[in-house]
Amino acid sequence: MVTIPFDTTKSSTVYVENGREALSSVLGEVFSRAKQIAVVVDEAVFTLYGNYFNGVFSDKRLSFFVVKGGEKCKTLGTYERIVNFALSLGLRRNDGVIAFGGGSITDVTGFVAATYLRGVTFASVPTTLLAMVDAAIGGKNGIDFGEIKNCLGTFYDTAAVYCDLDFLKTLPPRELESGYGEVIKYAFLGARITADEIAAQTPSIKLVSECIRVKKSFVSVDYKDESTRRFLNLGHTFGHAIESLSGFTLSHGECVLKGLALSLKVAKKLQGLSDENYARAMKLLGVRGHDLSCPYTPKKLETFLKYDKKFDGSAVDFITFDSELNAVTDKLTLSELVGAIR
Ligand SMILES: NC(=O)c1ccc[n+]([C@@H]2O[C@H](COP(=O)([O-])OP(=O)(O)OC[C@H]3O[C@@H](n4cnc5c(N)ncnc54)[C@H](O)[C@@H]3O)[C@@H](O)[C@H]2O)c1
Repeated sequence: MVTIPFDTTKSSTVYVENGREALSSVLGEVFSRAKQIAVVVDEAVFTLYGNYFNGVFSDKRLSFFVVKGGEKCKTLGTYERIVNFALSLGLRRNDGVIAFGGGSITDVTGFVAATYLRGVTFASVPTTLLAMVDAAIGGKNGIDFGEIKNCLGTFYDTAAVYCDLDFLKTLPPRELESGYGEVIKYAFLGARITADEIAAQTPSIKLVSECIRVKKSFVSVDYKDESTRRFLNLGHTFGHAIESLSGFTLSHGECVLKGLALSLKVAKKLQGLSDENYARAMKLLGVRGHDLSCPYTPKKLETFLKYDKKFDGSAVDFITFDSELNAVTDKLTLSELVGAIR
């Protein structure tokens, strides 16, 4: 097992393991004061792993609230149902909440845990690659409201995150590949992972823990996402535009990779990225055979770029690369950005 420890920010300890050998001791410690625990679980995960917590808590009442996972569960309606469930159990501040599922479940459950009675002890057991390396790490939670994704949410960290890679054996291939989109992004942000490790059939403990280490390194210096944490958005400016234009039919990770490919094009045009480094980077992006082409014209993309959270009305704080392939920021107008990918 690899343990990535608690650090000086509110960033929780993360455990990465094949199997649930250490689950009992990790969660036993986190919830030592709890009399009961509410587990919010993805429906598909409950069907496959409904017995996962059997024998883990000998002295606590465990109650499950089953939610159909996916983006559509990140609503006020789900939030309200989980709160009603907690109230019906008589869940108190010393008790606990566990999120058991992918990023949609960790997001909505984290928001309940942060706000119910002004905050109860919260742990995550993520079951998708994307949630293990990204969504469950770093304290952000939230739900969508109207058309706005993650409109309501807080920064509230888990007491512990337990990543059991055995869950990935049942993950649909499309979901696994979506997670790899973020994994490959981390390779450009300092994760010590090789192309061979990324190309391997299943993710290793080393691969997952390296991605988490990199995410935590950004979160620990900028927990509230005011400066350097934004580097984690590498590939996301174009990626989000592509995802929206596709009507969310393309997966998030796939769009991040397409977005990264466009960012490399920008870096070649505006930051002096050499042909050699460009080719090297494109090879790494394509190591798992993802389609890196962008199905939309620069003009179409432009209409969505203004919704980027790094756009201030006239320019975007765009995350790009310098000549040596280090991630850097450059303030670019939308026409500069779009002009660079034509
Ligand atoms: N808070 C953050 O910092 C952060 C960061 C990145 C993404 N997110 C959020 O994460 C969400 C996406 O998360 P996701 O990609 O994990 O998707 P998800 O939670 O929607 O799960 C994807 C699908 O996989 C299924 N599934 C989950 N685990 C499984 C398993 N082990 N076996 C079989 N099926 C399984 C689910 O039922 C679901 O259908 C988005 O809402 C995004 O906004 C949050």
